[in-house]
Amino acid sequence: MQEKIIILDFGSQTTQLIGRRIRELNVYCEIVPYNKFPKDDDCVKGVILSGSPFSVYDASAFKVDLSGIRGKYPILGICYGAQFIAYSNGGTVEPAGTREYGRAHLGTFDKGNALFKDVREHTQVWMSHGDTITSIPDNFNIIASTDKVKIAAYQIEGEQVWGVQFHPEVFHSEDGTQMLRNFVVDVCGCSQSWSAASFVDTTVAELKEQVGNDRVILGLSGGVDSSVAAVLLNRAIGKNLTCIFVDHGLLRKDEFKNVLHDYECLGLNVIGVDASEKFFKDLEGVTDPEKKRKIIGRDFVEVFNAEARKITDAKWLAQGTIYPDRIESLNITGKTIKSHHNVGGLPEEMHLQLCEPLKWLFKDEVRRVGRQLGIPEHLIGRHPFPGPGLAVRILGDITAEKVHILQEADDIFIRGLREWKTKDESGRETSLYDQVWQAGVILLPVQSVGVMGDERTYERAVALRAVTSTDAMTADWAHLPYEFLAQVSNDIINKVKGVNRVTYDISSKPPSTIEWE
Ligand code: XMP
Repeated sequence: MQEKIIILDFGSQTTQLIGRRIRELNVYCEIVPYNKFPKDDDCVKGVILSGSPFSVYDASAFKVDLSGIRGKYPILGICYGAQFIAYSNGGTVEPAGTREYGRAHLGTFDKGNALFKDVREHTQVWMSHGDTITSIPDNFNIIASTDKVKIAAYQIEGEQVWGVQFHPEVFHSEDGTQMLRNFVVDVCGCSQSWSAASFVDTTVAELKEQVGNDRVILGLSGGVDSSVAAVLLNRAIGKNLTCIFVDHGLLRKDEFKNVLHDYECLGLNVIGVDASEKFFKDLEGVTDPEKKRKIIGRDFVEVFNAEARKITDAKWLAQGTIYPDRIESLNITGKTIKSHHNVGGLPEEMHLQLCEPLKWLFKDEVRRVGRQLGIPEHLIGRHPFPGPGLAVRILGDITAEKVHILQEADDIFIRGLREWKTKDESGRETSLYDQVWQAGVILLPVQSVGVMGDERTYERAVALRAVTSTDAMTADWAHLPYEFLAQVSNDIINKVKGVNRVTYDISSKPPSTIEWE
Protein backbone atom coordinates (compact mmCIF):
# COMPACT_ATOMS: atom_id res chain seq x y z
CA MET A 1 0.00 0.00 0.00
CA GLN A 2 1.41 3.34 -1.08
CA GLU A 3 0.82 5.98 1.61
CA LYS A 4 -0.01 9.34 0.10
CA ILE A 5 -0.78 12.99 0.64
CA ILE A 6 -3.79 14.39 -1.21
CA ILE A 7 -3.51 17.92 -2.60
CA LEU A 8 -6.91 19.48 -3.23
CA ASP A 9 -6.48 21.76 -6.23
CA PHE A 10 -8.35 25.06 -6.06
CA GLY A 11 -6.75 26.22 -9.30
CA SER A 12 -3.53 27.94 -8.26
CA GLN A 13 -0.63 28.03 -10.66
CA THR A 14 1.62 26.71 -7.89
CA THR A 15 -0.42 23.58 -7.08
CA GLN A 16 1.87 21.49 -9.23
CA LEU A 17 4.86 22.88 -7.36
CA ILE A 18 3.41 21.70 -4.04
CA GLY A 19 3.30 18.23 -5.58
CA ARG A 20 6.89 18.51 -6.77
CA ARG A 21 8.20 19.58 -3.38
CA ILE A 22 6.46 16.71 -1.64
CA ARG A 23 7.75 14.17 -4.13
CA GLU A 24 11.24 15.59 -3.58
CA LEU A 25 10.78 14.59 0.05
CA ASN A 26 10.22 11.02 -1.25
CA VAL A 27 6.61 11.17 -0.20
CA TYR A 28 4.00 10.14 -2.74
CA CYS A 29 1.18 12.61 -3.40
CA GLU A 30 -1.72 13.04 -5.78
CA ILE A 31 -3.28 16.29 -6.95
CA VAL A 32 -7.03 16.03 -7.33
CA PRO A 33 -9.75 18.61 -8.12
CA TYR A 34 -10.82 20.43 -4.92
CA ASN A 35 -14.17 18.58 -4.86
CA LYS A 36 -12.89 15.10 -5.74
CA PHE A 37 -11.42 13.83 -2.51
CA PRO A 38 -10.89 10.08 -3.01
CA LYS A 39 -13.44 7.97 -1.18
CA ASP A 40 -12.42 4.94 0.86
CA ASP A 41 -8.70 5.33 0.25
CA ASP A 42 -6.93 3.86 3.28
CA CYS A 43 -3.57 5.16 2.08
CA VAL A 44 -4.28 8.88 2.62
CA LYS A 45 -2.12 10.32 5.41
CA GLY A 46 -2.84 14.03 5.10
CA VAL A 47 -4.46 16.74 3.01
CA ILE A 48 -3.19 20.02 1.57
CA LEU A 49 -5.51 22.72 0.24
CA SER A 50 -3.88 24.73 -2.55
CA GLY A 51 -4.14 28.39 -3.49
CA SER A 52 -6.68 29.70 -5.99
CA PRO A 53 -7.20 32.57 -8.43
CA PHE A 54 -10.49 33.31 -6.63
CA SER A 55 -11.31 35.23 -3.46
CA VAL A 56 -13.17 33.19 -0.86
CA TYR A 57 -16.03 35.71 -0.84
CA ASP A 58 -16.52 35.54 -4.67
CA ALA A 59 -19.86 33.99 -5.57
CA SER A 60 -18.08 31.66 -8.00
CA ALA A 61 -15.25 30.71 -5.61
CA PHE A 62 -14.61 26.99 -5.23
CA LYS A 63 -16.05 25.77 -1.96
CA VAL A 64 -15.88 22.34 -0.45
CA ASP A 65 -17.34 20.67 2.62
CA LEU A 66 -14.38 19.60 4.74
CA SER A 67 -16.43 17.89 7.43
CA GLY A 68 -15.57 14.38 6.18
CA ILE A 69 -11.85 15.23 6.17
CA ARG A 70 -11.40 17.41 9.25
CA GLY A 71 -10.59 15.36 12.31
CA LYS A 72 -9.75 12.34 10.16
CA TYR A 73 -6.56 13.64 8.51
CA PRO A 74 -4.11 16.45 9.27
CA ILE A 75 -4.86 19.46 7.02
CA LEU A 76 -2.63 22.26 5.74
CA GLY A 77 -4.25 25.17 3.90
CA ILE A 78 -1.97 27.25 1.71
CA CYS A 79 -2.93 30.86 0.77
CA TYR A 80 -6.56 30.49 -0.48
CA GLY A 81 -6.66 27.15 1.34
CA ALA A 82 -5.85 28.94 4.61
CA GLN A 83 -8.31 31.75 3.86
CA PHE A 84 -11.03 29.25 2.97
CA ILE A 85 -10.69 27.34 6.26
CA ALA A 86 -10.71 30.59 8.27
CA TYR A 87 -13.63 32.10 6.32
CA SER A 88 -15.80 28.97 6.41
CA ASN A 89 -15.35 28.83 10.19
CA GLY A 90 -16.51 32.40 10.78
CA GLY A 91 -13.27 34.34 10.19
CA THR A 92 -13.05 37.39 7.95
CA VAL A 93 -11.14 37.67 4.70
CA GLU A 94 -10.88 41.05 3.00
CA PRO A 95 -9.00 42.61 0.12
CA ALA A 96 -5.54 43.46 1.41
CA GLY A 97 -4.87 47.19 1.83
CA THR A 98 -1.69 46.84 -0.15
CA ARG A 99 -1.72 43.69 -2.23
CA GLU A 100 0.78 41.39 -0.70
CA TYR A 101 3.14 40.06 -3.30
CA GLY A 102 6.69 38.91 -3.01
CA ARG A 103 9.26 38.74 -0.28
CA ALA A 104 8.31 38.92 3.41
CA HIS A 105 9.87 37.66 6.63
CA LEU A 106 8.30 35.79 9.50
CA GLY A 107 9.18 38.41 12.13
CA THR A 108 7.63 36.30 14.84
CA PHE A 109 6.59 32.68 14.82
CA ASP A 110 5.86 29.99 17.38
CA LYS A 111 9.14 28.07 17.47
CA GLY A 112 7.54 25.24 19.39
CA ASN A 113 4.88 24.62 16.74
CA ALA A 114 5.34 21.36 14.84
CA LEU A 115 5.06 23.21 11.51
CA PHE A 116 8.09 25.36 12.30
CA LYS A 117 10.59 22.78 13.57
CA ASP A 118 14.11 23.75 12.37
CA VAL A 119 12.82 26.90 10.68
CA ARG A 120 15.31 29.76 10.94
CA GLU A 121 14.60 33.05 12.74
CA HIS A 122 13.22 35.76 10.48
CA THR A 123 12.95 33.28 7.61
CA GLN A 124 11.98 34.60 4.20
CA VAL A 125 8.61 33.56 2.81
CA TRP A 126 6.87 34.39 -0.45
CA MET A 127 3.49 36.10 -0.40
CA SER A 128 1.16 36.22 -3.37
CA HIS A 129 -2.35 37.24 -2.53
CA GLY A 130 -4.76 40.09 -3.02
CA ASP A 131 -6.79 39.13 0.07
CA THR A 132 -5.85 38.73 3.67
CA ILE A 133 -7.37 37.14 6.78
CA THR A 134 -8.36 40.02 9.08
CA SER A 135 -9.97 38.02 11.88
CA ILE A 136 -10.04 34.41 12.93
CA PRO A 137 -12.41 32.45 15.16
CA ASP A 138 -11.55 32.19 18.88
CA ASN A 139 -10.29 28.63 18.60
CA PHE A 140 -7.71 29.62 15.95
CA ASN A 141 -4.24 30.57 17.24
CA ILE A 142 -1.92 32.87 15.31
CA ILE A 143 1.41 31.08 15.01
CA ALA A 144 3.32 33.45 12.68
CA SER A 145 3.23 37.09 11.61
CA THR A 146 5.13 39.33 9.20
CA ASP A 147 5.38 43.10 9.61
CA LYS A 148 2.43 43.54 7.20
CA VAL A 149 0.42 40.38 7.78
CA LYS A 150 -0.60 39.66 11.35
CA ILE A 151 -2.22 36.31 10.62
CA ALA A 152 0.52 34.87 8.39
CA ALA A 153 -0.13 31.38 9.80
CA TYR A 154 -2.55 29.80 12.27
CA GLN A 155 -3.39 26.48 13.85
CA ILE A 156 -6.81 25.46 15.11
CA GLU A 157 -6.65 24.82 18.84
CA GLY A 158 -6.40 21.14 19.68
CA GLU A 159 -6.65 20.09 16.01
CA GLN A 160 -4.16 19.11 13.36
CA VAL A 161 -5.29 21.89 11.04
CA TRP A 162 -2.92 24.63 9.89
CA GLY A 163 -3.22 27.56 7.53
CA VAL A 164 -0.36 29.59 6.02
CA GLN A 165 -1.01 32.68 3.90
CA PHE A 166 2.39 32.46 2.23
CA HIS A 167 3.55 29.87 -0.30
CA PRO A 168 5.99 27.36 1.26
CA GLU A 169 6.23 25.52 -2.08
CA VAL A 170 7.99 28.30 -4.01
CA PHE A 171 11.74 28.56 -4.20
CA HIS A 172 11.85 31.98 -2.52
CA SER A 173 10.28 30.66 0.68
CA GLU A 174 13.65 29.73 2.18
CA ASP A 175 12.44 27.19 4.72
CA GLY A 176 9.30 26.27 2.80
CA THR A 177 10.45 22.73 2.07
CA GLN A 178 11.31 22.29 5.76
CA MET A 179 7.76 23.36 6.70
CA LEU A 180 6.27 20.95 4.15
CA ARG A 181 8.55 18.22 5.51
CA ASN A 182 7.40 19.00 9.05
CA PHE A 183 3.81 18.62 7.90
CA VAL A 184 4.04 15.48 5.77
CA VAL A 185 6.66 13.61 7.82
CA ASP A 186 6.25 14.71 11.45
CA VAL A 187 2.55 15.50 11.49
CA CYS A 188 1.12 13.11 8.88
CA GLY A 189 3.65 10.38 9.64
CA CYS A 190 4.68 9.66 6.04
CA SER A 191 7.76 7.45 5.91
CA GLN A 192 9.62 9.10 2.97
CA SER A 193 9.84 5.72 1.29
CA TRP A 194 8.59 6.77 -2.14
CA SER A 195 11.34 5.93 -4.58
CA ALA A 196 11.68 4.63 -8.09
CA ALA A 197 12.09 1.13 -6.68
CA SER A 198 8.96 1.36 -4.54
CA PHE A 199 7.05 2.83 -7.48
CA VAL A 200 8.06 -0.10 -9.69
CA ASP A 201 7.04 -2.68 -7.07
CA THR A 202 3.67 -1.07 -6.30
CA THR A 203 2.83 -0.34 -9.93
CA VAL A 204 3.73 -3.82 -11.16
CA ALA A 205 1.46 -5.29 -8.46
CA GLU A 206 -1.34 -2.85 -9.35
CA LEU A 207 -1.02 -3.56 -13.07
CA LYS A 208 -1.22 -7.30 -12.45
CA GLU A 209 -4.41 -6.72 -10.52
CA GLN A 210 -5.88 -4.21 -12.99
CA VAL A 211 -5.13 -6.07 -16.20
CA GLY A 212 -5.06 -9.68 -15.02
CA ASN A 213 -4.70 -12.02 -17.99
CA ASP A 214 -6.04 -9.52 -20.54
CA ARG A 215 -4.10 -8.55 -23.63
CA VAL A 216 -2.78 -4.97 -23.79
CA ILE A 217 -1.69 -2.87 -26.79
CA LEU A 218 0.79 -0.01 -26.48
CA GLY A 219 2.08 2.44 -29.09
CA LEU A 220 5.82 3.00 -28.83
CA SER A 221 7.36 6.22 -30.14
CA GLY A 222 11.00 5.69 -29.26
CA GLY A 223 10.64 8.37 -26.57
CA VAL A 224 11.25 7.96 -22.87
CA ASP A 225 7.65 7.88 -21.64
CA SER A 226 6.26 5.18 -23.89
CA SER A 227 9.42 3.09 -23.46
CA VAL A 228 9.20 3.20 -19.66
CA ALA A 229 5.47 2.43 -19.72
CA ALA A 230 6.16 -0.57 -21.98
CA VAL A 231 8.94 -2.02 -19.83
CA LEU A 232 6.85 -1.57 -16.69
CA LEU A 233 3.90 -3.39 -18.26
CA ASN A 234 6.18 -6.05 -19.66
CA ARG A 235 7.39 -6.71 -16.14
CA ALA A 236 3.81 -7.05 -14.93
CA ILE A 237 2.19 -9.05 -17.73
CA GLY A 238 5.00 -10.21 -20.05
CA LYS A 239 3.90 -11.48 -23.43
CA ASN A 240 0.32 -10.31 -22.96
CA LEU A 241 1.66 -6.89 -23.91
CA THR A 242 1.95 -6.17 -27.64
CA CYS A 243 3.77 -2.98 -28.62
CA ILE A 244 3.33 -1.28 -31.97
CA PHE A 245 6.10 0.99 -33.26
CA VAL A 246 5.21 2.90 -36.44
CA ASP A 247 7.92 4.30 -38.70
CA HIS A 248 6.60 7.35 -40.55
CA GLY A 249 9.91 7.73 -42.35
CA LEU A 250 10.58 11.02 -40.59
CA LEU A 251 12.67 9.71 -37.73
CA ARG A 252 16.38 10.39 -37.24
CA LYS A 253 18.95 8.44 -39.24
CA ASP A 254 18.73 4.69 -38.46
CA GLU A 255 16.50 5.45 -35.49
CA PHE A 256 13.75 2.98 -36.35
CA LYS A 257 16.22 0.12 -36.74
CA ASN A 258 18.24 1.00 -33.62
CA VAL A 259 15.31 1.62 -31.32
CA LEU A 260 13.53 -1.53 -32.51
CA HIS A 261 16.68 -3.44 -31.67
CA ASP A 262 16.81 -1.83 -28.20
CA TYR A 263 13.20 -2.76 -27.57
CA GLU A 264 13.83 -6.35 -28.56
CA CYS A 265 16.83 -6.48 -26.23
CA LEU A 266 14.56 -5.27 -23.43
CA GLY A 267 12.42 -8.33 -24.06
CA LEU A 268 9.44 -6.43 -25.45
CA ASN A 269 7.01 -8.03 -27.82
CA VAL A 270 7.15 -5.36 -30.58
CA ILE A 271 5.63 -5.12 -34.02
CA GLY A 272 7.59 -2.62 -36.14
CA VAL A 273 5.56 -1.16 -39.00
CA ASP A 274 7.37 0.63 -41.82
CA ALA A 275 4.68 2.92 -43.21
CA SER A 276 7.01 5.59 -44.60
CA GLU A 277 5.76 5.23 -48.17
CA LYS A 278 2.20 6.04 -47.16
CA PHE A 279 3.30 9.11 -45.18
CA PHE A 280 5.54 10.42 -47.97
CA LYS A 281 2.79 9.95 -50.53
CA ASP A 282 0.20 11.78 -48.43
CA LEU A 283 2.63 14.60 -47.62
CA GLU A 284 3.59 15.19 -51.25
CA GLY A 285 3.53 18.91 -52.11
CA VAL A 286 2.25 19.95 -48.64
CA THR A 287 4.05 23.01 -47.26
CA ASP A 288 1.76 24.30 -44.51
CA PRO A 289 3.08 23.10 -41.11
CA GLU A 290 -0.34 22.58 -39.56
CA LYS A 291 -1.49 20.59 -42.60
CA LYS A 292 1.64 18.43 -42.29
CA ARG A 293 0.83 17.78 -38.63
CA LYS A 294 -2.79 16.89 -39.44
CA ILE A 295 -1.84 14.46 -42.21
CA ILE A 296 0.79 12.79 -40.05
CA GLY A 297 -1.60 12.53 -37.09
CA ARG A 298 -4.34 11.06 -39.28
CA ASP A 299 -2.04 8.58 -41.05
CA PHE A 300 -0.52 7.55 -37.74
CA VAL A 301 -3.91 6.69 -36.28
CA GLU A 302 -4.83 4.76 -39.45
CA VAL A 303 -1.65 2.69 -39.44
CA PHE A 304 -1.75 2.09 -35.70
CA ASN A 305 -5.40 1.08 -35.76
CA ALA A 306 -4.91 -1.29 -38.69
CA GLU A 307 -2.28 -3.14 -36.62
CA ALA A 308 -4.26 -2.91 -33.39
CA ARG A 309 -7.35 -4.45 -35.03
CA LYS A 310 -5.34 -7.58 -35.79
CA ILE A 311 -5.01 -8.15 -32.05
CA THR A 312 -8.62 -9.12 -31.75
CA ASP A 313 -8.62 -10.14 -28.10
CA ALA A 314 -7.05 -6.89 -26.82
CA LYS A 315 -8.89 -5.35 -23.88
CA TRP A 316 -6.62 -2.44 -22.95
CA LEU A 317 -4.73 0.36 -24.61
CA ALA A 318 -1.72 1.45 -22.56
CA GLN A 319 -0.17 4.90 -22.98
CA GLY A 320 2.89 6.64 -21.60
CA THR A 321 0.88 9.69 -20.54
CA ILE A 322 2.66 11.53 -17.72
CA TYR A 323 1.34 14.03 -15.22
CA PRO A 324 2.28 17.27 -17.05
CA ASP A 325 0.52 15.94 -20.19
CA ARG A 326 -2.71 15.77 -18.23
CA ILE A 327 -2.48 19.20 -16.64
CA GLU A 328 -3.68 20.81 -19.85
CA SER A 329 -6.33 18.16 -20.33
CA LEU A 330 -7.94 18.50 -16.93
CA ASN A 331 -9.19 21.57 -15.23
CA ILE A 332 -10.16 21.60 -11.61
CA THR A 333 -13.81 20.93 -12.31
CA GLY A 334 -12.66 17.65 -13.80
CA LYS A 335 -13.83 18.56 -17.30
CA THR A 336 -11.62 18.06 -20.30
CA ILE A 337 -10.62 21.39 -21.78
CA LYS A 338 -8.02 20.16 -24.25
CA SER A 339 -7.26 16.62 -25.28
CA HIS A 340 -3.67 15.59 -25.06
CA HIS A 341 -2.26 14.07 -28.23
CA ASN A 342 -1.87 10.73 -26.45
CA VAL A 343 -5.58 10.49 -25.94
CA GLY A 344 -8.16 9.76 -28.61
CA GLY A 345 -8.24 8.39 -32.13
CA LEU A 346 -8.97 4.80 -31.11
CA PRO A 347 -11.32 2.61 -33.05
CA GLU A 348 -14.40 2.65 -30.88
CA GLU A 349 -15.58 -0.81 -31.81
CA MET A 350 -12.51 -2.22 -30.08
CA HIS A 351 -13.90 -1.08 -26.72
CA LEU A 352 -10.46 -0.72 -25.23
CA GLN A 353 -9.99 0.52 -21.71
CA LEU A 354 -7.19 2.99 -21.00
CA CYS A 355 -4.20 2.03 -18.85
CA GLU A 356 -1.78 4.85 -17.97
CA PRO A 357 0.77 3.62 -15.41
CA LEU A 358 2.85 6.83 -15.45
CA LYS A 359 0.01 9.30 -15.15
CA TRP A 360 1.08 10.62 -11.76
CA LEU A 361 4.78 11.05 -12.58
CA PHE A 362 6.86 14.04 -13.56
CA LYS A 363 9.42 13.69 -16.36
CA ASP A 364 12.48 13.33 -14.14
CA GLU A 365 10.65 10.68 -12.11
CA VAL A 366 9.88 8.75 -15.30
CA ARG A 367 13.62 8.77 -16.02
CA ARG A 368 14.39 7.50 -12.50
CA VAL A 369 11.86 4.71 -12.93
CA GLY A 370 13.35 3.87 -16.33
CA ARG A 371 16.83 3.55 -14.83
CA GLN A 372 15.41 1.40 -12.06
CA LEU A 373 13.94 -0.88 -14.72
CA GLY A 374 17.35 -1.24 -16.37
CA ILE A 375 16.50 0.66 -19.55
CA PRO A 376 19.79 1.72 -21.19
CA GLU A 377 20.96 5.28 -20.60
CA HIS A 378 20.88 6.22 -24.29
CA LEU A 379 17.10 5.58 -24.30
CA ILE A 380 16.47 7.27 -20.94
CA GLY A 381 18.53 10.38 -21.60
CA ARG A 382 17.11 11.03 -25.08
CA HIS A 383 16.16 14.52 -26.08
CA PRO A 384 12.49 15.20 -26.72
CA PHE A 385 11.62 14.74 -30.39
CA PRO A 386 8.42 16.04 -32.00
CA GLY A 387 5.76 13.49 -32.98
CA PRO A 388 5.71 14.66 -36.63
CA GLY A 389 9.50 14.23 -36.61
CA LEU A 390 11.64 15.77 -39.33
CA ALA A 391 8.51 16.95 -41.18
CA VAL A 392 8.51 20.08 -39.00
CA ARG A 393 12.25 20.54 -39.50
CA ILE A 394 12.04 20.61 -43.29
CA LEU A 395 10.68 24.00 -44.17
CA GLY A 396 8.49 23.70 -47.25
CA ASP A 397 7.47 20.48 -48.94
CA ILE A 398 8.88 17.10 -48.00
CA THR A 399 10.71 14.78 -50.35
CA ALA A 400 12.69 11.61 -49.69
CA GLU A 401 15.84 13.45 -50.87
CA LYS A 402 15.35 16.28 -48.37
CA VAL A 403 14.72 13.81 -45.56
CA HIS A 404 17.93 12.02 -46.46
CA ILE A 405 19.99 15.24 -46.46
CA LEU A 406 18.51 16.31 -43.13
CA GLN A 407 19.07 12.90 -41.53
CA GLU A 408 22.74 12.98 -42.51
CA ALA A 409 23.33 16.53 -41.25
CA ASP A 410 21.36 15.86 -38.05
CA ASP A 411 23.34 12.69 -37.40
CA ILE A 412 26.63 14.59 -37.59
CA PHE A 413 25.35 17.26 -35.19
CA ILE A 414 23.86 14.83 -32.67
CA ARG A 415 26.84 12.47 -32.74
CA GLY A 416 29.11 15.49 -32.29
CA LEU A 417 27.13 16.64 -29.24
CA ARG A 418 27.39 13.17 -27.71
CA GLU A 419 31.15 12.95 -28.29
CA TRP A 420 32.18 16.49 -27.19
CA LYS A 421 32.70 16.46 -23.44
CA THR A 422 33.32 19.39 -21.11
CA LYS A 423 34.02 19.59 -17.39
CA ASP A 424 31.74 21.48 -15.02
CA GLU A 425 32.92 23.46 -11.96
CA SER A 426 33.14 20.31 -9.84
CA GLY A 427 35.34 18.63 -12.45
CA ARG A 428 32.58 16.27 -13.62
CA GLU A 429 32.72 15.47 -17.31
CA THR A 430 29.48 15.59 -19.31
CA SER A 431 28.70 15.59 -23.00
CA LEU A 432 27.22 18.61 -24.73
CA TYR A 433 24.29 16.30 -25.57
CA ASP A 434 23.50 15.89 -21.87
CA GLN A 435 23.95 19.60 -21.24
CA VAL A 436 21.28 20.69 -23.70
CA TRP A 437 17.56 20.05 -23.49
CA GLN A 438 17.02 19.41 -27.17
CA ALA A 439 18.92 19.75 -30.44
CA GLY A 440 18.43 19.14 -34.12
CA VAL A 441 19.08 20.46 -37.60
CA ILE A 442 16.60 22.41 -39.71
CA LEU A 443 16.64 22.21 -43.51
CA LEU A 444 16.02 25.68 -44.86
CA PRO A 445 14.11 26.38 -48.07
CA VAL A 446 16.94 28.47 -49.52
CA GLN A 447 19.95 27.80 -51.66
CA SER A 448 23.03 29.92 -51.73
CA VAL A 449 26.27 30.27 -53.65
CA GLY A 450 29.43 28.57 -52.47
CA VAL A 451 32.71 27.37 -53.85
CA MET A 452 34.14 23.89 -53.56
CA GLY A 453 37.51 23.26 -55.21
CA ASP A 454 37.32 25.21 -58.45
CA GLU A 455 33.60 24.73 -58.74
CA ARG A 456 30.88 27.23 -57.98
CA THR A 457 28.10 25.54 -56.01
CA TYR A 458 24.47 26.52 -55.46
CA GLU A 459 23.22 24.36 -52.64
CA ARG A 460 21.11 24.18 -49.52
CA ALA A 461 21.56 25.89 -46.15
CA VAL A 462 20.85 24.25 -42.79
CA ALA A 463 20.42 25.74 -39.33
CA LEU A 464 21.65 24.04 -36.17
CA ARG A 465 19.30 24.41 -33.22
CA ALA A 466 20.22 23.56 -29.62
CA VAL A 467 18.42 24.89 -26.57
CA THR A 468 18.58 24.72 -22.82
CA SER A 469 15.30 24.46 -20.97
CA THR A 470 13.61 22.75 -18.05
CA ASP A 471 10.14 22.20 -19.48
CA ALA A 472 10.13 23.40 -23.14
CA MET A 473 7.80 26.25 -22.14
CA THR A 474 10.71 28.66 -22.21
CA ALA A 475 14.12 28.00 -23.71
CA ASP A 476 17.42 29.72 -24.37
CA TRP A 477 19.78 28.98 -27.24
CA ALA A 478 22.62 26.82 -26.00
CA HIS A 479 25.97 28.59 -25.84
CA LEU A 480 27.89 25.82 -27.59
CA PRO A 481 31.68 26.25 -27.91
CA TYR A 482 32.80 27.96 -31.14
CA GLU A 483 35.33 25.18 -31.80
CA PHE A 484 32.54 22.64 -31.64
CA LEU A 485 30.31 24.63 -33.99
CA ALA A 486 33.25 25.04 -36.39
CA GLN A 487 33.86 21.30 -36.41
CA VAL A 488 30.21 20.43 -37.01
CA SER A 489 29.91 23.03 -39.77
CA ASN A 490 33.00 21.64 -41.48
CA ASP A 491 31.83 18.06 -41.17
CA ILE A 492 28.38 18.78 -42.54
CA ILE A 493 29.62 20.79 -45.52
CA ASN A 494 32.30 18.23 -46.36
CA LYS A 495 30.23 15.11 -45.85
CA VAL A 496 26.62 15.93 -46.69
CA LYS A 497 26.13 16.28 -50.39
CA GLY A 498 23.76 19.13 -51.20
CA VAL A 499 24.62 21.39 -48.24
CA ASN A 500 27.11 24.25 -48.56
CA ARG A 501 26.13 26.54 -45.68
CA VAL A 502 25.57 26.02 -41.94
CA THR A 503 24.06 28.62 -39.60
CA TYR A 504 23.42 28.56 -35.84
CA ASP A 505 20.06 29.66 -34.44
CA ILE A 506 20.53 32.12 -31.57
CA SER A 507 16.88 32.81 -30.76
CA SER A 508 15.29 32.19 -27.39
CA LYS A 509 11.73 31.08 -26.63
CA PRO A 510 9.75 33.28 -26.34
CA PRO A 511 9.54 35.05 -28.72
CA SER A 512 10.79 32.25 -31.00
CA THR A 513 9.87 28.57 -30.55
CA ILE A 514 12.12 25.54 -30.30
CA GLU A 515 10.99 24.05 -33.61
CA TRP A 516 10.92 26.23 -36.70
CA GLU A 517 7.47 25.09 -37.74
P1 XMP B 1 7.97 24.55 -29.63
O1 XMP B 1 8.43 24.49 -31.04
O2 XMP B 1 6.49 24.83 -29.51
O3 XMP B 1 8.18 23.09 -29.04
O4 XMP B 1 8.78 25.49 -28.79
C1 XMP B 1 8.06 22.73 -27.68
C2 XMP B 1 8.32 21.25 -27.55
O5 XMP B 1 7.29 20.50 -28.20
C3 XMP B 1 7.83 19.70 -29.24
N1 XMP B 1 6.88 19.75 -30.37
C4 XMP B 1 6.03 18.77 -30.67
N2 XMP B 1 5.84 17.55 -30.11
N3 XMP B 1 4.14 17.10 -31.70
C5 XMP B 1 4.90 16.71 -30.64
O6 XMP B 1 4.73 15.58 -30.17
C6 XMP B 1 4.27 18.31 -32.32
O7 XMP B 1 3.56 18.63 -33.27
C7 XMP B 1 5.27 19.18 -31.76
N4 XMP B 1 5.66 20.44 -32.08
C8 XMP B 1 6.67 20.76 -31.20
C9 XMP B 1 9.16 20.33 -29.58
O8 XMP B 1 10.06 19.40 -30.18
C10 XMP B 1 9.61 20.80 -28.21
O9 XMP B 1 10.14 19.73 -27.45
